[in-house]
Amino acid sequence: MAEQTAVEKKRVAVLISGRGSNMTALIEAAKADDYPAAIVLVISNVPDAAGLERARAEAIATAVVDHRPFGDDREAFERALDGELHRHRIDLICLAGFMRLFTKNFVERWSGRMLNIHPALLPHFKGLHTHRRALAAGVKEHGATVHLVVPEMDAGPIVAQEAVPVLAGDTEESLAARVLAVEHRLYPQALRLIAEGRVGAAAEPAASRSA
Ligand code: GRF
Repeated sequence: MAEQTAVEKKRVAVLISGRGSNMTALIEAAKADDYPAAIVLVISNVPDAAGLERARAEAIATAVVDHRPFGDDREAFERALDGELHRHRIDLICLAGFMRLFTKNFVERWSGRMLNIHPALLPHFKGLHTHRRALAAGVKEHGATVHLVVPEMDAGPIVAQEAVPVLAGDTEESLAARVLAVEHRLYPQALRLIAEGRVGAAAEPAASRSA
C-alpha cells in the first residue's frame, strides 16, 4: 500500500462585496481531495452581498463586517476583520471582488498571504472599469491577473495571468464575460501555488533551492 502523508490544507478566507462568482470557483476547486486549501470562511463588508447566500448554502462559515459603522476609521474596521480571521485560524486571504482598500499595516500583516484577482492584464488598467477602458484604448488583448497584495493598489507580484482576445464588436459585457471565464480558472490555480508554498511567504528564495 502506498504510504500517504497527510498534508494539512491551508485555511482560506475569501473576502467579497458582491455576487461572489470567483468565491464560488474557489469553493468548487477546493472540494477536490488533492487541493491544498480549504475555504473555511467568507467575509463580506456588504450585509446583503449575494455571495453570502451561496457560501451559506455550501455550509461555509460567513461573517459580515460592515465598514459603514467605522466611518473613516479603517484601522478599526481592519481590527474587526482581523478578529474574524484569527477566530477562524486563517492562513491565507483571497480577495474576490472586495471593494475596500486596506491600510499599509493590514497589508503588511498579511504580506505574502493575501491574493487579489484583477480583471485586466496588470500592470495595465489598474483600478475600476477595466473592460470599458480596454475597449476605449483599442487593445487587442485583455485578461485577468492574480497577484499578491502590497500596499500600492493593484500592484504586487503576479502569481498567474491569462490573456483573452478583444474581438471586433465586443461590448463591455461580452468582454467582461470572456475575462470572467478565465478568472474562474485562474484564481484556483493561483491559490494552489500559494497554498503549496511555491510562491509567496512560504516559498524559498530561488538561490537556496537545491534543484
Ligand atoms: C471580478 O471581475 C474580479 O476580477 C474583480 O471584481 C469582480 C468580482 O466578481 N476584482 P465576483 O464577485 O467574483 O463575481
